[in-house]
Formats: sequence, C-alpha cells, structure tokens
Amino acid sequence: MPDDAAQQVCTLRDRLNEADRLYRLGEPTGMSDTEFDHTLKQLEQLEADHPSLATPDSPTQRVGGQPIDGFETIAHSSPMLSIDNTYNRQELDAWYTRTCKSAGADQLDIVVEPKVDGVALALRYENGTLVQALTRGDGTKGDDITHNIKTVRHIPLTLHANAGTQPRIGEAPGNQAPGVLEIRGEIYLPQGVFDQVNAEKAERGEDPFMNPRNTTAGTLKQKDPAKVIRGLKFVAYGKGEVSGDAAYNTHADFVAHIKQLGLPTQDTESVVASADEAWGWIEQFDQDRHDLPFATDGVVIKVNDYALQDKLGVTSKAPRWCIAYKFPAEQARTKLLEVNWQVGKTGKLTPRATMQPTLLAGTTVSHATLHNFGEVLRKDIRLGDTVVIEKAGEIIPQVVEPVAHLRGGGEKPIQAPGHCPECATPVEIEYDARRVNEIAVHGRAVEREKTKSEKEGRTPEPIAPPAPLGPEDETARYCPNPECPAQFRERLIHFVGRNQMDIDALGEKTIHQLCDAGLLTTLGDIYRLKDKRGELLELERMGEKKVDNLIEGVEQSKGRGLLRVLAGLTIRHIGQGGAKRLAQHFGGIDALIAADEQAIADIEDVGPITAASVRQFLDNPAGRHVIAELKAAGVDLTEEKIEVAADSPFAGKTIVLTGTLENFQRNELKKILEGLGAKVSGSVSKNTDLLIAGEKAGSKLTKAKGLGVEVWDETKLMEALSWVRNAARKA
Ligand code: IVH
Repeated sequence: MPDDAAQQVCTLRDRLNEADRLYRLGEPTGMSDTEFDHTLKQLEQLEADHPSLATPDSPTQRVGGQPIDGFETIAHSSPMLSIDNTYNRQELDAWYTRTCKSAGADQLDIVVEPKVDGVALALRYENGTLVQALTRGDGTKGDDITHNIKTVRHIPLTLHANAGTQPRIGEAPGNQAPGVLEIRGEIYLPQGVFDQVNAEKAERGEDPFMNPRNTTAGTLKQKDPAKVIRGLKFVAYGKGEVSGDAAYNTHADFVAHIKQLGLPTQDTESVVASADEAWGWIEQFDQDRHDLPFATDGVVIKVNDYALQDKLGVTSKAPRWCIAYKFPAEQARTKLLEVNWQVGKTGKLTPRATMQPTLLAGTTVSHATLHNFGEVLRKDIRLGDTVVIEKAGEIIPQVVEPVAHLRGGGEKPIQAPGHCPECATPVEIEYDARRVNEIAVHGRAVEREKTKSEKEGRTPEPIAPPAPLGPEDETARYCPNPECPAQFRERLIHFVGRNQMDIDALGEKTIHQLCDAGLLTTLGDIYRLKDKRGELLELERMGEKKVDNLIEGVEQSKGRGLLRVLAGLTIRHIGQGGAKRLAQHFGGIDALIAADEQAIADIEDVGPITAASVRQFLDNPAGRHVIAELKAAGVDLTEEKIEVAADSPFAGKTIVLTGTLENFQRNELKKILEGLGAKVSGSVSKNTDLLIAGEKAGSKLTKAKGLGVEVWDETKLMEALSWVRNAARKA
C-alpha cells in the first residue's frame, strides 16, 4: 500500500533525522550505529520499492551517490581568503588599536573563537537544502565535492527552524533559512576516529595516515563517496553568499541563527569588548584547548559588526576585520642519539635525527629533521647533545637548537657524507644563493676595476672580498646519480601517492619490500606486477587478498589521466599546478613531446624555467623510456583539452547564470562557457559582464539590472552558441 509505505518512509526519515540532529548537538542519539544502519537500510528498501517516494533530502541520499570521474572546478561566490597571523600580545594589541582607528571607533566588539585545524569548506543551501559543497581550492575556485560531503552525518542535508533546540519531526525543509545560504567552515577528523582508522590500516598491513588534516583532505578527494571515511565533523564559522543579507547585523547573530537551523557551530566562541578581554580569553583557551575534539593551533579574532567589517574591507589575501593569534609551537628537550642521511626523490640528502623518544604535543616522537648540513654547523648541533625540538606546522618535528650548557664533553660533531649513502656516488653541494651571488658580484667588480685602472694607467684599487664559501653556507647536498636506488624508491612512492596515481595498496613498506625483492626496478615494472603473482605470493605478509588488491589498484590507476601522470613523474618544477596546465593545454603526451620549449613556456603561468625542465625530462633517454613504458602498459596519457577560443564572444567575460534553463543543465552550460573562455561566477557584482537569466530568475536578475549588467535570455544564448559553432566549422 503506497499510503502505508509513505507513512513508514516518513517515520523512518524522522527517526534518522532526529538521530542526526542529536549527533550534531553532541548529545546521545538513543540509537546505536547498528540500529542506525539497519533503519537506513529499511528506508532504502522502501524507497527502492516505491521510487515515487524518494526525495533529494532523504537520509538515504547520504550513501546513494555514484562515483564520479573527476572533480568539477567551480568559482566561489566570493573569494575564500586566508587570515593574517599574530604571534604575541603586542601584535594583537596593535591590530586592535589599528582596527579601532580605521573603524573610527574608541572601542570595538570582537568575537574570539578557536581556529580549527581542518580543511576549509563552502556549503551552499538553497531553500534549506544542501545543493553544493566546494573545497577552498585556490581561494577563487574550488572542487565540487558535494557527492562526498553528503555522506558526512555531521553536516545537515536540510535546515530547519529551531533544529538546534527542538526535535523536528515531519517538517518540510527550508523553514526560516534564507533562500540562498552559503556556509563557510572547517571539516575535520576527530583524533579518536583518526586513531581508529590507523589501527584498521595497520591490521591490513597498510602504512598509517600522517595526520588528521591530510587524511581529511585526502578522503574528501575520493571519487567514490562510499569510500569517504566515516566520522568526519564540521564546524561553521562564516558566511559566503546569503540572500537577504541585511537580516544579520553581527557575526554573533549569524552564528546564533545558523545554530538554530541545525548547523554545527563553535561551542566556545564569545564576544568581548577589548583587546585585554580577548587576551584573557586566549590564555584560558590555551589551557583548555587540548580537550577539544579537534586540533587547534590558535584563535581567530573578528570584528563582530558586519557593517564595520564591510567598512574595513579586505586586502588581496586576508580581511582587515579578522586576525589569527597562533600559539607558540610546543617544545620539548631530549637527547640526540644518531643522524642518518636520507635520500629524497630528487636526490637531496636530508639529515634525520634519531632521539630518545619523548612526548611532544600529544605524540611520542623519536625522529626530527635537521634540514641541512649548513644548519647543523650554524647551530653547532652535536651527537649526544641535549636538544630542543618542536613541531613545525603540525607534522614534522624539527631540532631547534642544542642546549650547550648541558654538554658533558663527550659530544661529537656530526659528519656530512661525501658520497651518497645508498649508491656511493660523490655528492654535489648547493650553497646559499645570496652568498654565491655576493661572490659573483665581487668578482665582477674586481674585473671592472681592473679594466678601468688599466685604461687610466694606475694600479687597481683593492676591493675587500666577501668571506669565501664555507661549509656553513651549505643549503643542500645532492646525490647526482639519476639511477640511485634510493631516489628511485622515493620516486615510486611519490608516483603511487594519493594525488598522483593513487595506488593505495602500494604503501611505503610494500614498495621497499618489492624493490628489495627485485620486482620493481623501473616505473614500468608497476604495471608488470600482474604477471608476477607467484613471486608476489612468496613474499612475507603477502596473502592472496593483498596481492589481488595490489593488482586491482594498479589496473585502476591506468585510467587516472595525463595530469596525474605528469604530477607523479618527479619532473623538476612540475607539481599539481604545472601538471594541470600542461595536461589541459596539450591534451595528450604526444602533443607535449612534439612541443618546443618556447611553446611550453608560452602557456599561461608556466614560464621559461619550468619549460626548460620539462623539455630536459622529455629529451633525456631515461625520461623517454619511462613514458614509453607507461604507454606500452596502456596507461592513459591523455587529458581533456581545454581550448580557449580567443575570438569567441565569451572569451574573457565573467558570466553569471540564474533561473531555470530549458535546454541546459547548469553545470553543463558552465563547462561549455568555460570552454569558450568565459569565467562563470556564482554571484552578480560590478565585475559581471553578462547575466544569463532563465525562467523564474530572482534576486540576481534584479541586482544585475541595478548594476546595468547586460542580460540575455536563453534564446539569445542559443543564438550566440550556434554562431560560435558555425564559426568553428568554417575555421
Ligand atoms: S574565519 C578569512 N574562523 O583558517 C576568512 N577561519 O588560516 C574568514 N579557520 O581560511 C575565515 N578556524 O579555513 C575563520 N574560527 C575560524 C576558523 C577559520 C579555522 C581557517 C579558515 C581560514 C584559515 C586561515
């Protein structure tokens, strides 16, 4: 009976939504995970049996998403900026005084709240329903990860009035939420969940994740939403586009309202009226912060009043109405026992300290980086020293300085290797560029003086030389052997990494194991592993299942495309950004190989240094060999080419889409227009060149008209597009 079914669907949804709501409030949900999963399954079944009952805001939508091929990049409605940092009370006071002055006020209400160390996210709700989730990206445009975000129970799919206090049973979404409400906030993985995930990884013999933040960023870039780690949490701390903006006068008002709508917000934010009060709050928070469920390395301080925020404005990087206070890095003392030199993927040798294990910022550390030999000498760090260590950022601990007065006399100098510790090739040394330049400048001055004095028939004036380059000026040591096994291993590790070929089953330990067993001697060997099942199975900790996983992962990686391959090849100066520009410009490896250095340098944001390095890689027999091997293995070396038609009427135009269009999906049209050189933006401003308005266009149309922006309807758009197609056909 559909009526019965409809009733049942409602009941199940209400129960699940209520459990989610309580979960977001951090209260007991009255439902175990098993019961939740069971209820969700029941609902899924009912919706499958009665498709007419399915709705986009059903809790089943959290798991129903299909894997995607790639992420779509979408412009932010307004830039996602960063925040300027301060590191002590004086700097904070100075910001407050400066800000009061600019605001023309004696005193300002400011909000202090934790700085959450996660991954920034922009959530767009339309009429109370979550429609889009974007990463920060480069700040102006981010990746569309909506399919993954929908799996996060901590983020509501729909907003409801009073959801923050009362149960919402059977209520339609949208109630009291602005038509468009874009929430900015941070998504993070609580430490407990992170530890659990790593324990499970260890059980499967996989390498552990580095830290909660990287893990969060990584899992959000999954193509298959079913694989997103469960237990991610979100905290909202700001707004992007909001219709009927003026409804909020202050940040505190805004936060209170979105909390009522059911969004998770900071529990600890408060409004204070002076820099002194802010400082008091910070000191208290410093003591309490280790008990919070998320990592935090500071506090964010914001002007509360929105009108004043607008008046203060933003610089190109950060708002003037906001500042972060960063806590000093935590330090500890321990004994330096040993130094090993590690060979990186570019051949760089880095000194790595082994120390007596000690507790630092919540974890036991026994290794730290010493950066380079010059640094070791400048700081006079010796084996056996008691050293101060600290966590830089939040990941790699570093040795700050020795505690000289604690020396007992048995400390020994640290030696730098003259040969690569792995392949014994003599090392090459790189010196501080400023010092090298200083010496070159002196050399030229001496030459000039020589010529001049000869002409004038006098003895040259002496010019005091700078100190000669010494070991303390050293900034890096390299193993120059491109076939060095250690370098090769590191390049392999990079190649299979998450942002490159993403072969999860090939962790660091497995790579070492396969290299030692002689199963990986070239990059192309990765793709021949499937013919070596027998040999793989003979290795330790390699069961049928692990081998299957490995081979499956390798096969899947063949389809990642040219961008990922280029990013994975360790070509100097080519990271994700460079790889993207090359891959999208050339569309395939053959076109890239055929391009001369100038053609590569001419690509926007590439330039001559990168072009020379790319050409060098492509012209080098080793580089050619790698590419030939990947090609032979059937690795996809193409990428969707983004052609910008310079003579298209859309080239260089900033366009906004609004209303319902009959002939286009919004996202498809966006792609078409971007392909024709346009920038598609989410909101109308004075920089908008054109608004394309479909049926039922609302506030954007009004705003565009107010600003005198050109407006097209769908017919006009179709005409223009067919003109472009005809022009292309003729060309
Ligand atoms: S407000 C600048 N508030 O920190 C735009 N940001 O290091 C206003 N963050 O990009 C941002 N906690 O991703 C704000 N309570 C908080 C925050 C916060 C963490 C992030 C945010 C920002 C980054 C800057």
